[in-house]
Amino acid sequence: MPPILFDPATMSTGVSSVDQQHRQLIDQINALVVALERGDEASAVGTALRSLQAYTRTHFTHEEKCMRDVACPALKLNELAHATFLRNVEDLSGEFARTGPTRMLATKVQSSMGMWLKTHIVNTDTKLRPCVPAGAR
Ligand SMILES: [Fe+2]
Ligand SMILES: [Fe+2]
Repeated sequence: MPPILFDPATMSTGVSSVDQQHRQLIDQINALVVALERGDEASAVGTALRSLQAYTRTHFTHEEKCMRDVACPALKLNELAHATFLRNVEDLSGEFARTGPTRMLATKVQSSMGMWLKTHIVNTDTKLRPCVPAGAR
């Protein structure tokens, strides 16, 4: 599957730490998809999945704080979307626990995590950009 790419033109949030975390998240998702496609050992895939889950939580907390700090009107929508994403990741983790690494799981990680995240960044996270004062970027 083609890797998810970070596109600054459509995905910049105006906050460099958030953009950097988005790049890191996308890298981790791409690496997980490759590991699943390649048929890496379950223990390695499990480690990658847990690390991605933990980093996702760190990122969501940081991004929500950034929106709260500037009273961004998209905060509530963003929080709801984050809760949905974390549930999706829980479901994928549950499936992984049952089936181990499979190509089906690679497809699901690509769509429910990779494509979902890209769309979410473009549609929701970028709503941070107009809220951030130019000097604070
Ligand atoms: Fe977000
Ligand atoms: Fe984000």
